[in-house]
Amino acid sequence: MNKIQAIRGMNDILPNETPLWLYFESTVQRVVGSYGYREIRFPVLEQTQLFKRSIGEVTDIVEKEMYSFDDRNGENLSLRPEGTACCVRAADEHGLLYNQQQRLWYKGPMFRYERPQKGRYRQFHQFGVEAFGMNGPDIDVELIMLTARLWQELGLTAHVRLEINNIGTSADRKEFGAALVSFLQAHEEALDADSKRRLGSNPLRILDSKVPSTQAILADAPVLAEYVSAQTKAHFAELTDLLDAAGIAYIVNPKLVRGLDYYNNMVFEWITDTLGAQGTVCAGGRYDGLVEQLGGRATPGVGFAMGIERLVLMLQELDLVPAALTQVIDVYVAIGEGMGAKAIALAETMRSALPALRVQLNCGGGKMNNQLKKAFNSGATHALVIEADEQGQLSQVKLRQLGDEPTTEQVPVNELLSKLKQHFPNA
Ligand code: HAM
Repeated sequence: MNKIQAIRGMNDILPNETPLWLYFESTVQRVVGSYGYREIRFPVLEQTQLFKRSIGEVTDIVEKEMYSFDDRNGENLSLRPEGTACCVRAADEHGLLYNQQQRLWYKGPMFRYERPQKGRYRQFHQFGVEAFGMNGPDIDVELIMLTARLWQELGLTAHVRLEINNIGTSADRKEFGAALVSFLQAHEEALDADSKRRLGSNPLRILDSKVPSTQAILADAPVLAEYVSAQTKAHFAELTDLLDAAGIAYIVNPKLVRGLDYYNNMVFEWITDTLGAQGTVCAGGRYDGLVEQLGGRATPGVGFAMGIERLVLMLQELDLVPAALTQVIDVYVAIGEGMGAKAIALAETMRSALPALRVQLNCGGGKMNNQLKKAFNSGATHALVIEADEQGQLSQVKLRQLGDEPTTEQVPVNELLSKLKQHFPNA
């Protein structure tokens, strides 16, 4: 019979990888916690309308990447393709936004029907941060500094670059879009099919075209920077001043427009060259109109999301995985004939007395030699051998330090805990 396999583009994260995921997630949680951010959790399913109204009807995500379906009640629902819209929906629904400032974070799976390749999946995971009620640019800089601190902690600083842009207000972009359309209409025949279609729907996305002939036409096209309003220019200038003062290097990329419609003013991406084509590891920007657009009171917002798969891949490829992560057991307990109940009790006593000590019991029996082989292969630093003495009692145990030059100590049972404390002072 054919075995049922996972859905294309949806990955299992196996036990040898989960320690790295946990390390990444706990590092980010610690860093965002150090800036006072609090966690929010929301469902993976939302009304499809939420994403249409926020990300935009004429975006790749909404046009062709959402997992949408009618539920049994005929309501059209979608698996969340991103977290910002959900976060705004949840925060507004529960009254967290009115007249307040909020610093929130979330993590979890997102779903997009994209063509899978390295670093791009159909179920992927984001760690996202959203800040509400602050106009910036101080909060914008805080978010960027928080990510810079994270790269520092993970050892990634030399491998990522920050690109920023001012994309103006939505009115600025409308005006720019009109100018772009009238310029491109003069070259319509030479445009690729996708760009022709976007001419009538979402002309700014043509700027992202990868088709060389279209890029050649764009070389002489109007540029967004000439259409952005004075107010957003002042915000952006202040932002770059603050980044300079904080010593954070950046590149102003006038072509950076982002693929979601809710942004305005400042947008940014952290990009790496180590992953090939899918090099954006963190992306975000301001979205001051979004809360109101979704029916709430006008509330400024800014945030970003990181692709966890991409950052985990980077840590692996750059050999930045801390060695200690692969070690999951400290003491492997090998059990002699008839000592099962005593070994179980002793292991429990050890766990109670030394809560951080990771103790694994040999289960399923086996000769002592085989058990010690299993101890060695488990990655534990120590094996504890529990065998009966000549009177059939448990008076002493052997604590064996595993490794290239194993050493063994005989330890009276009643001194075991203090001996372990010497070997594992942090347990
Ligand atoms: P986004 O640029 O669509 O923005 O996604 C953010 C990050 O998620 C990307 O930079 C990438 O690292 C990761 N990512 C996106 N799609 C995939 C995929 N198919 N496979 C693997 N990783 C992926 C947003 O989602 C916005 N909500 C970010 C934001 C938050 N803006 C403001 N607040």
